[in-house]
This record gives sequence, C-alpha cells and structure tokens, in this order.
Amino acid sequence: MYKGVRTVAVEDIEMARISGPTDALLKITSAAICGSDLHMYDGRTNFEVGRSLGHEIMGVIESIGDAVTQIKPGDRVVLPFNIGCGDCFNCGRGYSNACLVANPETAGAGYVYTGMGPYQGGQAQYIRVPFADYNCLKVPGTAYDELEDNFILLEDIFPTAYHATEPAKVDLGSTVAIYGAGPVGLLAAMSSQIKGVSEIYVVDSVPARLDKVKQIGAILINFKDGSPVEQIKDKRKHNKRVQESLRPGDDKMPGVMCGIDAVGYQAHDEGNSDMDRPTQVTDDLVDLVNPTGALGIIGAFMPQDPGGVDAEAKQGVYEIPWGKLWEKGLQVGTGQAPVKKYNVLLRGLILAGKANPDIIVSHDMLIEGAPDAYQKFDRRSDGYTKVILKPNQE
Ligand SMILES: NC(=O)c1ccc[n+]([C@@H]2O[C@H](COP(=O)([O-])OP(=O)(O)OC[C@H]3O[C@@H](n4cnc5c(N)ncnc54)[C@H](O)[C@@H]3O)[C@@H](O)[C@H]2O)c1
Ligand SMILES: [Zn+2]
Ligand SMILES: [Zn+2]
Repeated sequence: MYKGVRTVAVEDIEMARISGPTDALLKITSAAICGSDLHMYDGRTNFEVGRSLGHEIMGVIESIGDAVTQIKPGDRVVLPFNIGCGDCFNCGRGYSNACLVANPETAGAGYVYTGMGPYQGGQAQYIRVPFADYNCLKVPGTAYDELEDNFILLEDIFPTAYHATEPAKVDLGSTVAIYGAGPVGLLAAMSSQIKGVSEIYVVDSVPARLDKVKQIGAILINFKDGSPVEQIKDKRKHNKRVQESLRPGDDKMPGVMCGIDAVGYQAHDEGNSDMDRPTQVTDDLVDLVNPTGALGIIGAFMPQDPGGVDAEAKQGVYEIPWGKLWEKGLQVGTGQAPVKKYNVLLRGLILAGKANPDIIVSHDMLIEGAPDAYQKFDRRSDGYTKVILKPNQE
C-alpha cells in the first residue's frame, strides 16, 4: 500500500471479491514491481495515499461470475496490465490500452495506476478481474513452476518492450539505440534481437543492468563515459566494415535508424545523474536517429508531475526540438502498450523455448520484502533489476 512519498507498507485490506457477472477472482502467485510503480512511489504523480499498488499480476482462478465462459476455477492465467472490455470501438480495433468502457473517467484502464480507473492493486493475495474472458491469458503448467518468472513478464514488460520496437520501426537488419537498461529497455533489446536487427546499442549507467545488456548480445553505452550520441556515432564511424560499405553521401546518416526511449520523464541528466532532465532522452534521440528514421517513446510521461523541474514540467509540458525532428522526417509513436496485441504471440515464443525474458529477474521474494525491495529498486542498487513478489507463499 502507498503511504506517501517513498513509503510503502504491507497491510491487511478488505478481501477482493467478484462484483459482476463477467468478473473472476484470482489468487495471485506472482506480482512484479514495475518502473511505472516508481513514478507513484517517488511522488511524481497525483496517485492517492492509501491505495494499494501493483499491475503486473498472475495466478490461479479461484472463482468466476455467472457470465464467464472461457475461463474456469483452477486455470493458471496472466493479466494484461491494461483492463479492456473487449467490445468497445478501441478494444475492437486492438487498442485495449484505450478501452472506452472500463474506466469511467477517460480512455484506458488498468490495475491501480494513476488516472487509470478505480481498480485495486495486485501486489496482494487476491484480485478482482473485470471482463475476465477478455483479459485472462491462459498459461500451461502449475503455479511456481520453472516458467513462472517468464510468464509473469507477459503482463506488461515483455509486450511493452516488444511494442516499443513497432513505432520505432525495428525490422530485419535495423540499427537500433535503446535508452534505459531497466526491464523495458532490456527486453526491447531482446525483442529487437528476435526481429533480426543488425546493431543494438543500449544506454544506461547502472553496472548490474549494463551486464545484462551484454548477456542479451547488445552493445552497452555508459552515459557516464560521455555523450551517448557521440559514443554511438563514434562506434559506427570506427566500424571498418560499416565504413567500407558506404557510398558518397551515406556519411549524412551517422547515427541509427531506430530509437527507443525506455526511460521516460524521470530521465537523469547525462552530465549530472543526480539531477533529472525530462527531455534528455528525446533530445538525444532526435540528434542520434538518422533522417527518415523513427522513435518509439515507451517511457512514461505524465500530465501531472508534482515533482516536475519547473511550472511547465509540473503540467507535463516539455520543449522538444520539433524543427530538427521535422526536418529529419522522423516518425514518433508514444503511449501505453496494448498488451493483448502481443501477449499470445510472445507466450508462444516462451513455450517454444525461443525467448527467456526471465533473465532480467533479479529477485523473487515474499510480499513482506516489498518495502525494502521498493527502496532498492528505486535506487537501482544491489543489482535490483526486476523484483517478483510471491504474496501467497509463506
Ligand atoms: N508505455 C507503457 O505501456 C509502459 C509500460 C511499462 C513501463 N513503462 C515505462 O517505461 C519506463 C521504463 O520502465 P522500467 O520498468 O524499465 O523502469 P526502470 O526505472 O527500472 O528503468 C529506467 C532506466 O533508465 C535509466 N536512465 C535514467 N536516465 C537515463 C538517461 N538519461 N539515459 C539512459 N538511461 C537512463 C535508469 O538508470 C534505469 O535503469 C518507465 O518510464 C515506465 O513507466 C511504460
Ligand atoms: Zn508495469
Ligand atoms: Zn473496451
């Protein structure tokens, strides 16, 4: 439960229950802590004190409402972090991230996220699942088996990371730069590998995370060693094979074709990582990505940020180098990922042994460990890359 800035506590709350015929009740086996939870934890949203947390959830169905036909008690399921109704104009077109029914306030609902409806959090023992037939992704096996930590990443991080590669137009042979080696950035690198790219650079400064970049087979760039834009351009300039294949004029494309922001508005200033600079990554990507390239801005930006660096940032208003972006003809995609568009397909890769996203998981623990885990994950210390809580284990 969120108790105020950088404070969470484990408390007894009212038991979740079915409240409509299309609901199910889920007994939770795994609930992950997300970089998105940290925006609320850090007091950088208008999230209310006293609400429960957690939108990355899997478990076993305990009971179902009268109108649920596809899912039954005992089924092992993963929940997309977006809650969709399945039938509205947006869900019908595959945009389950912008459901028009599940959130009475606006387009888009989710388990306990700021601005995403009245739902409870899943870092808990049980949760009510609305529109259960539409929202549950069935997975095989039994609770806590060897694939549990792969499956839990199908709720948000793996589909979100894969989704980031779509607006960035990552494709066969692409050159890709990813900012952020948190769970989303690392799995965006894995997704880029799956798509068959030629070069991937991943930028961060946290040593344990940069080690994982190497494991995924990408090139690590530490922004503490100097401007990542220059480092990447330099690596390409000194790549003899790349240089020897250029034709006259090709030197006007010194960067990469695809850029992914997996950091968002809490980006650190590259010159002083104790300071925030919300536009650091967008500024870099507009500089680094070649003319006719594309950007996937999957890192979060908020319409309200009580801790924003100035009055405009507090309203989610930032300066973007629009002239340069326009001149280069860059395409830009933003927003929440529509998890359901990808989770079935990515599940297939896990089942076939062709993707192992769980290499990013650093810690599995009982829910009592959550206050300490939030603190360490927030500080990116002690190798805390991805934490999975087990709320029903003792
Ligand atoms: N769009 C979506 O649907 C969606 C879903 C999940 C997460 N997100 C967002 O994606 C972002 C990443 O999530 P995560 O779980 O990986 O979070 P995270 O906080 O663990 O990772 C962010 C990483 O960015 C690094 N970083 C900070 N400033 C940097 C800079 N200037 N250059 C390069 N790296 C920098 C940090 O060191 C950290 O490792 C968050 O903003 C999160 O809210 C979006
Ligand atoms: Zn998440
Ligand atoms: Zn809908």
